[in-house]
Amino acid sequence: MSDERETIRAAYDQWAATYDTNENATRDLDAIALRAQGFDLAGLDVIEFGCGTGKNTATLLEGAPRSILALDLSEGMLSAARARLPDPRVRFVQHDITAPWPVAAACADLIVGDLVLEHVESLSVVFAQAGRALRSGGQLFVCEFHPYRQLRGAQARFESAGEEVKVPAFVHDFSDYVNAGIGQGLSVVRVQEWRDEGALGPRLLSMVFAQP
Ligand SMILES: C[S@@+](CC[C@H](N)C(=O)[O-])C[C@H]1O[C@@H](n2cnc3c(N)ncnc32)[C@H](O)[C@@H]1O
Repeated sequence: MSDERETIRAAYDQWAATYDTNENATRDLDAIALRAQGFDLAGLDVIEFGCGTGKNTATLLEGAPRSILALDLSEGMLSAARARLPDPRVRFVQHDITAPWPVAAACADLIVGDLVLEHVESLSVVFAQAGRALRSGGQLFVCEFHPYRQLRGAQARFESAGEEVKVPAFVHDFSDYVNAGIGQGLSVVRVQEWRDEGALGPRLLSMVFAQP
């Protein structure tokens, strides 16, 4: 594992204990963005990448999918997720999403990744894995810090022992997301920008892609 990835993993292992309880407007707005998609999940096979403590896994489970494979780099985040959701339909697996995913081709109807791609330098590496895993007609949802916000210095961060810890992050332009999807033959279904109430600029960018 690269030094950078190891730093990211260790940071999330440390953050895991407080991730769900810290004040975190980004986490909370992201939860709203996913719910607002209104995905009909009944009977579907879902992959969630960068599942963290299972905040969105819980939302996905409410839709009665057939299965969820939830991948994450950090064992600390995964153990919080496993404790939160002891459900036979969900499998939490420690995996670096920049490495080939441990799944068969065309095994998923929906793939969801939220607040994780800022930690990945090459979007195309991850989109290639998602494109391979998606069934025909399947959809990919991503929701990330808006590039405007990243350019103003936003990145995942938390407090530990009174010190601010910034988790290594990469800025992605809007075109990076679009081109990563197009590069895998996916089409763009929906683009949304998510603002805090009354804010001028958006905090988050979400996109839905479809596999033809
Ligand atoms: C900000 S948290 C988001 C968690 C969850 N998706 C949410 O919306 O609350 C980012 C998560 O991405 C995971 N992550 C970062 N880089 C990763 C990688 N290369 N492979 C897998 N997971 C990764 C971290 O361990 C962490 O759990």
